[in-house]
Amino acid sequence: MKSNPSDLPTTLADLLARSRARLEPFNTVHYFSEVPSTNDVAALLAEGTVVLADRQTAGRGRRGHSWFSPPGSGLYASVVLAPSRSLDPQGATVLLTLAAGVALAEGVDAASGLRADLKWPNDLYVSRRKLAGILAEASGDRVVLGFGINTSVASYPPDLHGRVTSIESELGRSVDRYAVFVEALAALSRRYDDLLLGRFDAILDAWRRRAPAAVGARVACTVDGNLVTGLTAGVDDRGALLVRVGDRLERIMSGEIQWL
Ligand code: BTN
Repeated sequence: MKSNPSDLPTTLADLLARSRARLEPFNTVHYFSEVPSTNDVAALLAEGTVVLADRQTAGRGRRGHSWFSPPGSGLYASVVLAPSRSLDPQGATVLLTLAAGVALAEGVDAASGLRADLKWPNDLYVSRRKLAGILAEASGDRVVLGFGINTSVASYPPDLHGRVTSIESELGRSVDRYAVFVEALAALSRRYDDLLLGRFDAILDAWRRRAPAAVGARVACTVDGNLVTGLTAGVDDRGALLVRVGDRLERIMSGEIQWL
């Protein structure tokens, strides 16, 4: 296992230096050629620290899934956040992953022009194929926010065929993945400010604009062990997904949504 920090690739160091003013507090980036999971490395570090790896040997997704993390074709990164510093810590904590989804979509858009849709709560999709995912894990009073973005085509395992996509395969041209990383950090910096200052409407409005399937899409979800199917009816101010099931409105706080 190569988990000693490596020197930042020169092109990345240059980009970070040029963008410094836009990245606060995410100016300290530890780069590794290989780690088990960037979330585990970041869990030991201070607020604002960023961990980036070229490859993960034990990348984790939500709900016990693994995250395929081959070298060179994706971004695997974690940032350390402290929502407890917000003017409204509880609100910031519940909206943190939605804010992160918005930021990743904005970063991808700014660096490449690709507009990804958000799927509740924070996955990025293009044409119903997954482009990026977020894993937030508590670490004391901090939150480690890990994100994976597929930047170019990889030899995906068979179970992912047809279910995932990458920025380059959507655009049909190459992209500078370090530019995507830096723009994602810049967008995270802006949305983290929103969280800390309690500007929750700005986050929710941006999330809703990028999530067309959050209203009127047929979905299935397991709630308290029961499978419910219904029509999405938006997200409320606490970031919960509303699903109309017959004449009831289910309020979903956690779970995995399947589009039907
Ligand atoms: C998901 O959609 O299931 C979440 C995927 C999160 C993957 C990223 S890659 C960087 C960070 N380290 C991990 O082990 N997981 C997250």
